[in-house]
Amino acid sequence: MASQTREQIIAGNWKMYKTSSEASAFIRELLPLIKDAADAVYLAVPFTSIEAAAKVASGTSISVGAQNMYDAEAGAFTGEISAHMLKAAGASFVILGHSERRQLFGETDAFINRKVRRALQEGLRPLVCIGESLTQRDEGRTEEVLAQQLSGSLCDLSASQIARLVVAYEPIWAIGTGRHATPQIAQAAHRFIRDCLSERWGSQAADKTVLLYGGSVKPINASNLMAEPDIDGLLVGGAALEVDSFAQIVYHDSLVSGS
Ligand code: PGA
Repeated sequence: MASQTREQIIAGNWKMYKTSSEASAFIRELLPLIKDAADAVYLAVPFTSIEAAAKVASGTSISVGAQNMYDAEAGAFTGEISAHMLKAAGASFVILGHSERRQLFGETDAFINRKVRRALQEGLRPLVCIGESLTQRDEGRTEEVLAQQLSGSLCDLSASQIARLVVAYEPIWAIGTGRHATPQIAQAAHRFIRDCLSERWGSQAADKTVLLYGGSVKPINASNLMAEPDIDGLLVGGAALEVDSFAQIVYHDSLVSGS
């Protein structure tokens, strides 16, 4: 079982889907379905939907967040969005370093680290993504890659900041492919991540860090993944776009799983 002492979070990442009216309608439909859920529910929505989504979610168990931000406080950065703006629009968390940002937009650990520190300064909870590619896994380099991403993207953080952090392990080969990591593979990676955090920031902090698994999470595999001791939650892409499948994942405990 995932630790009962740690917070558990089911997070949806909508990527570049849903207008603000679609986002509001989704949340209105979802709310009655998840009213008895034990886990916290996070929705990372497109920038243009944050304000509307946060209004509908206000006072409920749903937290609304963003999928990216820029690291500067303010300035001449055409097209960019600051942490302060996200906060003012109603976001309470922000996904940073998603593999699509790393791969398609060239984001480095150093850049992600600057964003993490800015988000914390502005009172936004960072949800930092790390994960290896298929080639890296096949070459036996998974742990080396995870350790490098962790130390690069989290350097200079204090133990109390690490304790408040959410880290998502998202193997790139499992994202959007329908091929999820087995619970054993995911648990081994999560254990390794927690050990790395513990080595650097101490076990008190590392025991509090919420570790999510992401990559082809579906209603059918959610409960088996959540049964692992170091998997504290899930980061869901495709299956978070439909109210029914997302609600089923939120209620993973009551699902009979098949894989
Ligand atoms: P997926 O995406 O669930 O569609 O694989 C996960 C993610 O990219 O966060």
